[in-house]
Amino acid sequence: MEISIRIRIVIFILLVRVQHIQPADQADADDVNVYIVYMGGNRFDQHLLNSEIHYQILTSVLGSHKAAAMALMYSYNKSFSGFAAKLNAAQARTISTMKGVVSIFKSRVLKLHTTHSWDFMGLPLDGLTRMPIQEAHHGEEDVVIGIIDTGIWPESQSFKDDTLPPPPSGWKGVCQGGEKFSKSTCNRKLVGARWYVKGYEEANGFLNTTEVPEYRSARDHNGHGTHTASTAGGSQVRNASFLGLGRGIARGGASRARIAVYKTCWVEGVCYEADILAAFNDAITDGVDLISLSFGTTTPLPEYFASSSNIGSFHAMEKGISVVFSAGNAGPDPASVSNTAPWVISVAASTMDRSFPTYLMLGNNMTIRGEGVNTQRPNDTFVQLAYGGTCGSRLPRSVARKIVLCFGIPGGDNSLVAAVRVYLAGGSAVIFSEVPTKVVPSVLFIPVVYVDMEQGAKISLYYQSSRFPIVRLSSSRSVVGLEPAPVVAYFSSRGPSTLSPDILKPDITAPGVNILAAWPPVVPPSEVDVDTRSVDYNFLSGTSMSCPHVSGIVALLKSIHPEWSPAAIRSAIMTTAYVRDTSLELIKAGGSGKPANPFDFGAGHVNPIQAINPGLIYDAGLTDYVVFLCSLGYTQKQIRSIVSSAKLNITCPEKSSASDLNYPSITVSNLESTTTVKRTVTNVAPDENCVYVAVVSCPPGVEVIVKPKVLVFKPHIKTASFSVTLKPLKHSNGVYNFGRLAWISRDHHVQSPIVVRVNNIKDEFKDAKQPNKSNPEHREQTYLKSEVYDDAGAV
Ligand SMILES: *[C@@H]1O[C@H](CO)[C@@H](O)[C@H](O)[C@H]1NC(C)=O
Ligand SMILES: *[C@@H]1O[C@H](CO)[C@@H](O)[C@H](O)[C@H]1NC(C)=O
Ligand SMILES: *[C@@H]1O[C@H](CO)[C@@H](O)[C@H](O)[C@H]1NC(C)=O
Ligand SMILES: *[C@@H]1O[C@H](CO)[C@@H](O)[C@H](O)[C@H]1NC(C)=O
Ligand SMILES: *[C@@H]1O[C@H](CO)[C@@H](O)[C@H](O)[C@H]1NC(C)=O
Ligand SMILES: *[C@@H]1O[C@H](CO)[C@@H](O)[C@H](O)[C@H]1NC(C)=O
Repeated sequence: MEISIRIRIVIFILLVRVQHIQPADQADADDVNVYIVYMGGNRFDQHLLNSEIHYQILTSVLGSHKAAAMALMYSYNKSFSGFAAKLNAAQARTISTMKGVVSIFKSRVLKLHTTHSWDFMGLPLDGLTRMPIQEAHHGEEDVVIGIIDTGIWPESQSFKDDTLPPPPSGWKGVCQGGEKFSKSTCNRKLVGARWYVKGYEEANGFLNTTEVPEYRSARDHNGHGTHTASTAGGSQVRNASFLGLGRGIARGGASRARIAVYKTCWVEGVCYEADILAAFNDAITDGVDLISLSFGTTTPLPEYFASSSNIGSFHAMEKGISVVFSAGNAGPDPASVSNTAPWVISVAASTMDRSFPTYLMLGNNMTIRGEGVNTQRPNDTFVQLAYGGTCGSRLPRSVARKIVLCFGIPGGDNSLVAAVRVYLAGGSAVIFSEVPTKVVPSVLFIPVVYVDMEQGAKISLYYQSSRFPIVRLSSSRSVVGLEPAPVVAYFSSRGPSTLSPDILKPDITAPGVNILAAWPPVVPPSEVDVDTRSVDYNFLSGTSMSCPHVSGIVALLKSIHPEWSPAAIRSAIMTTAYVRDTSLELIKAGGSGKPANPFDFGAGHVNPIQAINPGLIYDAGLTDYVVFLCSLGYTQKQIRSIVSSAKLNITCPEKSSASDLNYPSITVSNLESTTTVKRTVTNVAPDENCVYVAVVSCPPGVEVIVKPKVLVFKPHIKTASFSVTLKPLKHSNGVYNFGRLAWISRDHHVQSPIVVRVNNIKDEFKDAKQPNKSNPEHREQTYLKSEVYDDAGAV
């Protein structure tokens, strides 16, 4: 049998996984890599926003202008200054010492947060269709959502522009042509398209689209970008479904907003940082109102200004552009969250109240209700049942034409791997048994029915006791309102943030399991070539899918409150989130089945209607983030070169703590003794006269004192500050505890999670105290340079 490219890739992945082959990583000193040289916002040196300076630096290091032109890949000269170039370690080191250079780092490869649908592809419908958001909000038309992803399928019904006026007047984006995508492919819905392939090609060689299923253009040959774009800002499409499943109206969170796509992620879902930074550089000046990104790196996380995502989003924030990131699919391990900058929104994923029952009837007449996405016609034929164990190695040909029972084991192979093994042995379907809270039914190329371990054991017993075991598979149905929902998805990355543990991450959770959204008809729904189905809507799961839900809500809030800052919008989303599920119990965490905590879902589940009118907001602007950077140990000089505005007076305070950033959650990750954090809230309610009372639920073992306990707002008193004093009442050595602060008025509940780790037992082995941080200039040396050397392979 001919094995297709995609199947081969799957098999390759299996081999890599099974044999633990790691890519070679001997950094030879002469090795040429793509480095990103970041030169900051250049508030005083506008001339640095000029490619000539980039050429000068490269010429001085490489010897000639010609060599410099050959090495230069991108010159970032619009929204911030920097460049990407091919350099060896010694050259990178030389550049790191040059004037104007803030940081230099290797362009890493980031991955889409669906695990490329390998693990977590699923089923149901757009989470927002059940939320009664106001129809056709006119302001939405003025909002442009920037999507940095795998491109777009422009002909999808989700991107039709029938009822939209021309793009907003301030829009400066372009429609960049390319393969099967012309300058006129854009419309009044899809108002911009650009693509960036240099970083990809430097790592992988020329992208030859006669050999690889891709388009050298903004056209999507992966599906991920089409899916995320339609979730955030897709038009309304009636009667959308995946082969009949999940039928309903598909639409984005802001269905009249505009979409601009920046394609930086290519075949197999890889995105190179040099390309990503180029996309930010353009998107910020094109005039997008928000940027949605569903990819990232895994821990260890790079330092804030040695990461394209953090640099790009920082300069976006400076311009008032909201940036929404997926939190990652590395859960449920603690401290697995990525994309944790405090100037972005980091989104976890959870389920909806929709399920896809798929019935199995065994030869002994026992009926078992599993979950699946089996869209084959109902078939009354019984088929022989085979036993595959963990289906973790090659299966015998004897399973051909049979339905194979496979068991998932913790840390073992997932259902995709089982499906590939069963497919290769000629089997007709898979019954996949695993821990129930882990189940995320996936669209695969052969039917897979997911059952829990108990059901799996029953099927296994039947198999052993029967001389001729047979089973019948029903087609799946979609059912709404069945189970307590939401549940935080097993795969969703968890806090605390390893980079700045005093800022709670993720911020919020949103639907990210079994999301139905637009899909390119040329891409098989299971993304494997043996799957010959062509669909316009497909089910995917991942924080990649929850992120654009929040992006859609950000677009909606921008349209209603165009004057709100990115921090104000995030605050509205976080303080109005809910933490109880449809059965009014605390939302559970998939995997453990235990009540979820803020490391699972941040402030809770997004609640768009409440977010429109949150009452109070915790605002923050550039000055607040500057103090935050001071608290992390950045020097004034470094911060001055990063910040774009020349007007801002950048002076680090004597003492600063990341816990004091005016964030809508309160976190003290190392509470050694009584500590006070400060917050300021702004009344944004239509009612200018109102009174709020503080209601606290204390973390176990910690006393929480809020001062003052009452906040009074009047037409001339819009803001109020308060302090929260956290007093340890116990001796502990590093356990996190959770509580809540709510400001309650007649009309509003403004809620914040409190996260505290009491750490007051003296431990002689504990790290020595940090050097005195009170004198900012004292820390001038500690910057990135040492990391640069490490990264460049030197001592
Ligand atoms: C900015 O970069 C672009 C593309 O690299 C280049 O064409 C343009 O001339 C540069 N502009 C300035 C002012 O350097
Ligand atoms: C792309 O691949 C095709 C088929 O292998 C080959 O004929 C063609 O020369 C390649 N194009 C480039 C630019 O390498
Ligand atoms: C919805 O689409 C299906 C095909 O997917 C079609 O058979 C059906 O008639 C459509 N229903 C409506 C109301 O348009
Ligand atoms: C299963 O049900 C059918 C029809 O109701 C019946 O004829 C058959 O004997 C049953 N088989 C067993 C093993 O109970
Ligand atoms: C039912 O499934 C069996 C095995 O998969 C197949 O041989 C048979 O043709 C199917 N029948 C119908 C009516 O689809
Ligand atoms: C900047 O702010 C600091 C502290 O707020 C103040 O001491 C200093 O004088 C200010 N500098 C300028 C140039 O305004």
